[in-house]
Amino acid sequence: MTVLHQSAFDHATVGAVMLKIGNLVGTMVDDPRRLLIMVRELADNAVYHSGEGKGWCAVERTGDHLQVVIRDRGQGIHGSLFHLYPDIDERQAVRWVFQGGVSATADPDRGLGLKMVLDYTQHGATLLLETGGVALVGSGGRARMVGKSTQRVDGVVATLRVPLAGDRTVE
Ligand SMILES: Nc1ncnc2c1ncn2[C@@H]1O[C@H](COP(=O)(O)OP(=O)(O)O)[C@@H](O)[C@H]1O
Ligand SMILES: [Mg+2]
Repeated sequence: MTVLHQSAFDHATVGAVMLKIGNLVGTMVDDPRRLLIMVRELADNAVYHSGEGKGWCAVERTGDHLQVVIRDRGQGIHGSLFHLYPDIDERQAVRWVFQGGVSATADPDRGLGLKMVLDYTQHGATLLLETGGVALVGSGGRARMVGKSTQRVDGVVATLRVPLAGDRTVE
C-alpha cells in the first residue's frame, strides 16, 4: 500500500484539502468528481457532527484500487443521535442513517448524505464505515451490518475503495 496523501481538516481548511485530493485523484479513477462529492460529504460530517469540529483523511493506493479514509475521533453516529432518539441502540442508529432522512440537525431537509454515499457504491466503489462497536459495508448500493466490529472505534472511520481507472492499474 502506498500512502499518497494525509491531512487534517476543520471547517476552515476542508475546502482546500478537498481541492488537493481532487488534483491527486483527478486522473486515477473514472469519475473523480463523484468520488470527491462523497469524500466531501464524509469530511463535512466529521466537521459538523463529530462534536470535535475536525477530522483526518488519507488517500492510499493498494494494487488496483484507490482508498480514501476519512476519520474523526468524536462522539460517533450513535452519540450524535442519542439526545434526539434516546431509545435507539448503536446498530439501529447506523442502519437508520443509511436509509436516509435521519439527521442530528433535526432538519427535515437534511439526513441524505450517507444515503447518497451508499447509492454511490452502485458503481463499483465499496464503503466500510466503523463507529463505536459496529461496522457497515456498502456495496452494490446495499448496506450490510458486519456483526460487531472486532474493536471499538472512537468516532467514525469511513473508507471508500474505488477501482483505479483502466490504464492506471499497470504499475
Ligand atoms: N462523523 C460523524 N460523527 C457523528 N455523527 C455522524 C457522523 N456522520 C454522520 N453522523 C450522523 O448521521 C446523521 C446523518 O448524516 P448524513 O446522512 O450525512 O446527513 P446530514 O449530514 O444532513 O445530517 C447525522 O445527522 C449525524 O447524526
Ligand atoms: Mg452529512
